[in-house]
Amino acid sequence: MNKKYIGLLDSGVGGLSVLSELYKLLPNENYIYFGDTKNVPYGTKTPEQIYSYTKEILGFFATKNVENVVIACNTTSAVAYEKLRETFKNKLNIFPLIQTAAPYAVENLKEGDTIAILATKATVNSHKYREEINKINPKINVLEIDCTGFVEIVEKRLYNNKESIELIESKLEIVKKTNSKKVVLGCTHYPYLKEIFKKILNVEYFNPAVYLSLEVKNSINVSREKKTGEMLFYASKNPDEFILNSKPFFEIQDVKLMDFLRCN
Ligand code: DGL
Repeated sequence: MNKKYIGLLDSGVGGLSVLSELYKLLPNENYIYFGDTKNVPYGTKTPEQIYSYTKEILGFFATKNVENVVIACNTTSAVAYEKLRETFKNKLNIFPLIQTAAPYAVENLKEGDTIAILATKATVNSHKYREEINKINPKINVLEIDCTGFVEIVEKRLYNNKESIELIESKLEIVKKTNSKKVVLGCTHYPYLKEIFKKILNVEYFNPAVYLSLEVKNSINVSREKKTGEMLFYASKNPDEFILNSKPFFEIQDVKLMDFLRCN
């Protein structure tokens, strides 16, 4: 019998924060992870560019016995999910991050409360979080904050850099001023920064990956094999950097270079 895989994709190591939540609930599954490190960051790209990269990645997954795909990237979920779903219908079952998890963010909020969304420029411009949250409760204020630069802190490991801390402080200052009740980590790279965030502003941080993972667990046919599943990692550039960057979430030994993506 051929092994089935769950495919996860992101622009870099961000989606590993999603894989770590999924793995807690589904340790017996087999996973293929693709980090598009050649085109990172996605947040400053156009929806057309993001669709063209991720279409290639899903095409690759389709050749690898992947049945279920988790878009472990808010930006892709925000700007390319509908087109990807259409392109791969009947081939892949796709779970988008924002659309699956945003409804849970509304829990415990009341009319007039403000929820802050920290996200990339492309996610903010799509207003996908606002749309999904206001579908559930139109009386909640959704404050979307463009955090361009946060992804580079993670992908270049600039955690202790003065400029990094100042940038983070300036964004969390907006959260503080607006008295936001909850803060959504609206980019999968941001869980890497959560401890820094907490030191600067100790509020409730909502990680969509936790809720997405619950939904995936409840919707797929889980493996009946009792042994721990396999994990395969691919990056479109610099696999050694990928290994270093992934350390906060995984000790990865082997990342394969898979350089089929165009860079436009
Ligand atoms: N980690 C991704 C997200 O959740 C992409 C960030 C980027 O490459 O800009 O949005």
